[in-house]
Amino acid sequence: MTYLIRQMGHVVISSPDPMGAATDLCETVGLRITDTDGDAVYLSSNDRHHEVTYVKGKGEAVCIGLEAVSEAAIDELYSRAKTDGLEILADTPIGKGYDRALRFKAPGGSIFEVHSPIKRDQSRFYNSVGARPRRIEHINAFAPDTLAFGDFCAQTLGMKLSDKTSDDGFRWYRAQDGFHHTIAMGTGETALHHYAFDLYSMQDLQRIADNLAGKDRALVWGPGRHGAGENVFTYYADPHGCLVENSIEMRHIDNDTTHEPGVWDINEGFRWVNLWGTPPTPDFLVPGIKFQD
Ligand SMILES: [Fe+2]
Repeated sequence: MTYLIRQMGHVVISSPDPMGAATDLCETVGLRITDTDGDAVYLSSNDRHHEVTYVKGKGEAVCIGLEAVSEAAIDELYSRAKTDGLEILADTPIGKGYDRALRFKAPGGSIFEVHSPIKRDQSRFYNSVGARPRRIEHINAFAPDTLAFGDFCAQTLGMKLSDKTSDDGFRWYRAQDGFHHTIAMGTGETALHHYAFDLYSMQDLQRIADNLAGKDRALVWGPGRHGAGENVFTYYADPHGCLVENSIEMRHIDNDTTHEPGVWDINEGFRWVNLWGTPPTPDFLVPGIKFQD
């Protein structure tokens, strides 16, 4: 199977207060606003036009953007989506700064947009009161049937399974860029559980926790180190109740031919989800936010 997805693209989330949500992400994690269009607010942490967009709405996930390897990959995906009977929502970009896109519902109902590269038209360096991430890293979505959702990632999107749990309830898929996961999934009601940023150092995670404390808020879980992906993590909740993961040191799989997907035994404690042993907190075990109807 050839990759159709090169890397994580962007996320679009609706908010009753898009500018308030954007300001919170700037002040906490350290992205900056790159553009606005009506109520829509675009944010980025690097040279991309945007990695996160908040649009006016109820506080739901609008779509998960994945950057395609080529224009031909978008054409191929259109063909596969038709063959697979997926509901196609649009064949034009939902946002600014890129030319082509296909938006559709995955099995279970989560919404994806596979798109051409978002313009790299921003300065890579900027001032921020937050920690200033390297990039948006991955998303974690839930679906009632993770085998069907996983087959979609592998067969339709051409992604590769990096790890899974012994009960198949949690699965991690990588794109062509080789980072351990771009899409992570769990079993449950369809929802976006979290979106994640890649940062540079523990000091960045410390700064984000301090920024939250300054707002009289708290981390939801962490710091810890995930078993699957090996990344050090912290989580907090955004204004809509979707979790935001801040991550460093995600495993990079440099050779697809030598990597055998890891299988984590969920009956052996919590090591698969935290090698340091601290189990997930009740505030982490929330459903996340629904996908927009
Ligand atoms: Fe994650």
